[in-house]
Amino acid sequence: MQAAHAPVHEIASAQDAEAKAKQETLLTPRFYTTDFAAMDRIDVSPIRAEWDAMMAEYEGDNNHDHFQRTPEFAEEARTQMAAMSPELRQEFLDFLISSVTSEFSGCILYNEIAKHIENPDVKALMRYMARDESRHAGFINQSLKDFGLGLDLGDLKRTKKYTYFKPKYIFYATYLSEKIGYARYITIFRQLERHPEKRFHPIFRWFERWCNDEFRHGESFALIMRAHPHLLRGANTLWIRFFLLAVYATMYVRDHTRPELKQAMGLEPTEYDYTVFRITSEISKQVFPLSLDIDNPAFRAGMDRLFRLSQRMEAAKARGGLIGRLQQGALAVSAAATFARLYLLPVHRHELPRDVRVAPAW
Ligand SMILES: [Fe+2]
Ligand SMILES: [Fe+2]
Repeated sequence: MQAAHAPVHEIASAQDAEAKAKQETLLTPRFYTTDFAAMDRIDVSPIRAEWDAMMAEYEGDNNHDHFQRTPEFAEEARTQMAAMSPELRQEFLDFLISSVTSEFSGCILYNEIAKHIENPDVKALMRYMARDESRHAGFINQSLKDFGLGLDLGDLKRTKKYTYFKPKYIFYATYLSEKIGYARYITIFRQLERHPEKRFHPIFRWFERWCNDEFRHGESFALIMRAHPHLLRGANTLWIRFFLLAVYATMYVRDHTRPELKQAMGLEPTEYDYTVFRITSEISKQVFPLSLDIDNPAFRAGMDRLFRLSQRMEAAKARGGLIGRLQQGALAVSAAATFARLYLLPVHRHELPRDVRVAPAW
């Protein structure tokens, strides 16, 4: 698809990077807070054996030495960044900033939950996940620091806006973002394994072991949800549908807004996104009794339409004034209607498997 790109606001200074990280739009990563008392009441006894096995994996910490930069890293990054086109460089910086922000968002949420509860099972889990996310965020931030664009994470924590989510929304949304994070990283890693000449930054070499952390984080939420089966039945399946669609649509629009990044890796954004959807849908059968029919032509057309509407929204914002505002209003209505139509498309239904856990086999 050859639509015009949204204007990417140039990231040239640490202030620009910070402004980008604090941006609040439908598409940018958010910081969350939740009901700690409810988190304290989580009971994992129905899945105790699987839980204990998972906690042993966290304790074993097989990635404890992974997020260290090698001596060659900075040099390689410097040479490769200098060779990038300005467009690719901007999209890559944008990717690094939104990745740090979302890794750090997980770190803060898991840390805050751990701090505010007594429940030993959940507290231990949250500590382990916060440990992992803090390594991930710090590692990406190093790559921004190479260019004087490192984020002040302490300041971000104090000043970025927090969104309150009920625990069940945290479970659905965070489960999906961990699993989709796995699917995205592993798809990129496999592509660059086949085409090392397209690996335009050393950070991608770290993705394989990295994404196993995300996979395990997702497993943790899968176990919590399976221990509370009412979360996966009845009216809650409407929420599951909503979160699946919201997460897929956000990813689709964002990836198509910065196509250079995928193209530089030899990936076509639409094909890449559907590969990621397919992997995520396959994994999420461990916990969700339904998946979206991503091969339905109406689904594909709806996703495309959401992207085109978001491009026109950017143009209307840039135009400003009364006309610009009226256009934005009309476009928001069209986007909501498109989302609603996508939401109402038929879905696939599945029985939940007896064994909850899935292996990261992609
Ligand atoms: Fe992470
Ligand atoms: Fe994670």
